[in-house]
Amino acid sequence: MCGIVGYIGDKEAFPILIKGLKRLEYRGYDSAGVALLNGNTVLYKRKGKVSDLEEHIGSQEVSGKIGMGHTRWATHGEPNDVNAHPHKSFNDKFIVIHNGIIENYARLKEKLIGRGYEFDSETDTEVLANLIEYIYLKGDVTAELAVRLALSKVFGAYGLVVMCKDEPDKLIAARKGSPLVIGVGKGEYFLASDATPIVEYTKSVIYLNDGDVAVIKKNELKLKTIDNEILTPEIQELSLDIGEIDKMGYEHFMLKEIYEQPKAIADTFRGRINSDCTNIHLGGLHAVWPDLENARRIIIIACGTSWHAGLVGEYLFEEFARIPVEVEYGSEFRYRKPVIYKDDIVIAISQSGETADTLAAIKLAKEAGATVLGICNVVGSSIPRETDAGVYTHAGPEIGVASTKAFTAQVTVLTMMALKLARKKYQISEDQFNHMVKELTLIPEKIEKALELNDHIKAIAELYKDCTNALYLGRGFLFPVALEGALKLKEISYIHAEGYPAAEMKHGPIALIDKEMPVFIVATKDSSYEKIVSNIQEVKARNGIVIAVVTQGDDTIKHMADHVIEVPETPEHLAPLLTVIPLQQLSYHIAVMRGCNVDQPRNLAKSVTVE
Ligand code: F6R
Repeated sequence: MCGIVGYIGDKEAFPILIKGLKRLEYRGYDSAGVALLNGNTVLYKRKGKVSDLEEHIGSQEVSGKIGMGHTRWATHGEPNDVNAHPHKSFNDKFIVIHNGIIENYARLKEKLIGRGYEFDSETDTEVLANLIEYIYLKGDVTAELAVRLALSKVFGAYGLVVMCKDEPDKLIAARKGSPLVIGVGKGEYFLASDATPIVEYTKSVIYLNDGDVAVIKKNELKLKTIDNEILTPEIQELSLDIGEIDKMGYEHFMLKEIYEQPKAIADTFRGRINSDCTNIHLGGLHAVWPDLENARRIIIIACGTSWHAGLVGEYLFEEFARIPVEVEYGSEFRYRKPVIYKDDIVIAISQSGETADTLAAIKLAKEAGATVLGICNVVGSSIPRETDAGVYTHAGPEIGVASTKAFTAQVTVLTMMALKLARKKYQISEDQFNHMVKELTLIPEKIEKALELNDHIKAIAELYKDCTNALYLGRGFLFPVALEGALKLKEISYIHAEGYPAAEMKHGPIALIDKEMPVFIVATKDSSYEKIVSNIQEVKARNGIVIAVVTQGDDTIKHMADHVIEVPETPEHLAPLLTVIPLQQLSYHIAVMRGCNVDQPRNLAKSVTVE
């Protein structure tokens, strides 16, 4: 969701803020703004991208050595200039940027109106700015105390940065439910929603925890709770490299990330699989293996693409380890009073580690006494900190809003977990285990081969770029790939697409088939191959267009389908890792051909920190 950036030190803040906002734009991009203090308050904000803000500011001088910037994903109030952040308080004392939702903002607003406050915007953030100011003026307290008192009165989630005109030597930051990282420099501090704007200045960072309030001067940082308990900041070293957050010559981040998958997968299993493929070592799970082995059930919780990875996980755990698995959307699980046993293992999957619904579901599972594990990509994010144990995917930063390499890295971790658990529970033989592990290590080079089909896929994209509907079908391990293919297409090209288990087609979607709608069928050679061949025939019998992802050398489907995309052979359990690649490429090319903003699709944001 929204991106936050802040700076205090001896440098001019504006260029740092603008550069930071560009790095964070993937989190939200419907409006942007900056505010600086330099004796006066300098504030600019604009609907649109950071580049629109820059254009709006033009050559006007923006100086100041303390400042904040924000890029917004609208929750309260439509995206326009007025609702953009930063927000000033009514008497101009405070300036606030905020990520999250203040749930009781309407009641607070009413009370403030009763006390003479007027509002420009429809946002909950302006309410917070005015609440802080009201407490500050009425109680004659410091800015810090006013912030802490105000926060004790709000419900909801926030990552927050506050400046006070009367105390222009400090930034006040607070976190509850929305991430904030402080970068520690020499005589300067940086603030951001994630480390990407910070890494080029310093690798020393402090991740704020929920309930933390930081009071930051250029040479001093005080960390405390909302109730004024002093905390000791824990400085961590960032392993992020600046090259990882650049496009490195690719036209889009999404394309770069599609091509990074061989490396992302290899990095994810590197050091975890021994050289002769006879063992898997997952250090982060060491303490919980007994719980995993004795689990009554595994519940996988995730959203979006991570949920699709979770579905692959269900098939893997059930087939290999013979443990029943349920795969849940975080948003449904958290509100539907689920039955959770103490001997359940809950696995939360998330690229960002910040998804609000997944986090809430974790809390519920923990309260019920289950062991909660995380599979996350962003080191130091909230989910790894909330879970009992876990495994990081080492996919590197994923900036494109549409998830690609995170998915394959998540499936890689799930495969390793399922195989290791199966081995520990004596559900697979040593030979089978070694074979599967070996096959997993071959996946990166097979993906390299699959990526070589780019021109062929681009030609197919050209043919179907103007379609209005698309159907994706798959069976078994490839059903989640069909769902993921459909999600990729709809989110970046705005073409309506549905993913279905191929056999379900005849229970409804078959009615959609005509000679206009492409049907993408994932049909590599596996245990349900014959069945999916029948499904292809069913589509062809109704004059449907079939584009099939098949195993290299498959002559049968080649004669039935309109187009085939051949991927290297691999065991069916690993086929999602290969077959998803051409579907990602197809969506990418179709979206580019339709003139869509691939990295920042409309209405979406990378890290969904609101429910
Ligand atoms: C789709 C996509 C989203 C995310 C979902 C969960 O391409 O990116 O569906 O997968 O918002 O996000 P994480 O994995 O960060 O919890």
